[in-house]
Amino acid sequence: MKILVVGGAGYIGSHVAREFLDSGHQVDVYDNLSTGSRDNLFPEEGFTEGDILDYPRLRDAMGLGYDALIHLAAAKAAGESMVKPEKYSLQNLNGTVNIINAALERGIARIVFSSSAAAYGEPKYLPIDEKHPTEPENFYGFTKLEIERILGWYDRLKGIRYAALRYFNAAGYDVRGRIAGLEKSPANLIPVIMETAVGMRQELQVFGTDYQTKDGTGVRDYVHVSDLARGHVAALDWISRNDKSLVVNLGSEEGLSVFDILECARRISGKPIPAKIVPRRPGDPARLVASSRLARELLGWEARESDLETLVRTTWEAYSRKR
Ligand code: WQD
Repeated sequence: MKILVVGGAGYIGSHVAREFLDSGHQVDVYDNLSTGSRDNLFPEEGFTEGDILDYPRLRDAMGLGYDALIHLAAAKAAGESMVKPEKYSLQNLNGTVNIINAALERGIARIVFSSSAAAYGEPKYLPIDEKHPTEPENFYGFTKLEIERILGWYDRLKGIRYAALRYFNAAGYDVRGRIAGLEKSPANLIPVIMETAVGMRQELQVFGTDYQTKDGTGVRDYVHVSDLARGHVAALDWISRNDKSLVVNLGSEEGLSVFDILECARRISGKPIPAKIVPRRPGDPARLVASSRLARELLGWEARESDLETLVRTTWEAYSRKR
């Protein structure tokens, strides 16, 4: 298929583009390089530098006979979304409406959308399956859920078929070291640990050791980006074959604590990685773990590279190369 990856120069987008190329698809990228990087583009790809808020440019870029588009162009810092909802409304909501409308104008009827476990909010039970109530606790999660609902209407009214992939905590780097660009000003645990290991930060702040978890620190479901990427290929295949839309979790089904990751990173990097315990970060649940049963049943998808060792080793390799 001929595929446009919007946001394909970003951290997750570049892994997704790589996977589509590896699966024999033709891939072009549309990205404004605000958080993405040219280092993340591959020689086989066509590239348009453009913003999703620039509707004419977006529509032009989509006029090249694409069969599907993958949308990963979004602001994704949950904390920031609570102080700058206007940024998230514009970029995530308006930007996505532009993408869907341009796709419609250009006759692109299949969309794979990066949704988030943030759509669920505070867990009412674990593991979280797709039937779990969706009550986002932050504005970022609200934008993701709202986009899923808009896509649902376009499915009914315009025949667009979409897959909304609810990622849990995306982490890791390509095991073959083919993705070179690092995230700019990351806020997530594993890149913050790595920036501390290479001396870009003084210390890791551990947000709370008084949770009801095995070691008192927060437990999350970390899923390797290359596993996520395979999920996109499988989801596009599924919506194409079944002519139906799909909302599905992508998670490893394993809970890892902050200390699990910190200890593993110290061992693998051989660096001390200073850490200071500070109070809880507001809005952080104690544990979040996915059920990926639906992805397994429908897509035959399973996390393969999301074990602690691979997550930390591949990220360390990416950061130590850049030192
Ligand atoms: C993980 C754990 C922290 C940083 C966020 C978004 C969510 C999703 C994924 C996109 C928690 C602890 C973290 C640090 C720490 N994004 N931590 N020190 O909060 O689970 O999810 O990213 O869809 O929407 O909210 O991820 O990596 O920030 O935190 O102790 O400097 O690490 O408390 O337990 P989170 P995270």
